[in-house]
Amino acid sequence: MVKSTGIKKRTAIFISGNGSNMKNLIKFSKIKSSPIMVDLVISSNKKSNAIQYLKKNKINFKVFNFKQKNKDERKISDILKKRNTQLICLAGFMKILSGSFIKKFNGKILNIHPSLLPKYKGLNTHERAIINREKFSGCTVHFVNSKLDSGKIIIQKKVRINKKDDPKSLSKKILKQEHLLYPKALKKILSKT
Ligand code: GAR
Repeated sequence: MVKSTGIKKRTAIFISGNGSNMKNLIKFSKIKSSPIMVDLVISSNKKSNAIQYLKKNKINFKVFNFKQKNKDERKISDILKKRNTQLICLAGFMKILSGSFIKKFNGKILNIHPSLLPKYKGLNTHERAIINREKFSGCTVHFVNSKLDSGKIIIQKKVRINKKDDPKSLSKKILKQEHLLYPKALKKILSKT
């Protein structure tokens, strides 16, 4: 469990894609009452649009392509230890972290996933929910353990799937809810009140 001391937790965000959740968390971290401060961003993708944003906003970031996963994970964990990182938020991070990395930061890694877990772990969640004619999908923030998308659930938000929805429209609707849900999850596990 993440202990709360009342001081903002030094947080690293891991991304692979557009980084809209990352930008949202950075904005959230700047609110006075926010329980996190974003100290570092790790991107597995040097071409992510988020890199420009990070440069512009003078936020520390590092890129690791994870081609040599063990080596990269070792480097990352050294950096995180040196920076006294207290919390890791995976935000559209599409690499699977090893059991040994997760163990090192046990109980301190959170992930956001675009489905109502335990349904639709893994990839292509929106496509699968639509094909299965689900009436609802949604998003989940959960702790990360060594099994993919299977750690303890912190909070979820249901989103209705309309007949007209395709994976793109559903993804857009769910992403909007993700941006509300991740800050809520952080408040839930870190705020004293
Ligand atoms: C989000 O929908 C997030 O839930 C999902 O990738 C998208 C990233 O968007 N994550 C996963 O599928 C993780 N398995 P973003 O880069 O704009 O935050």
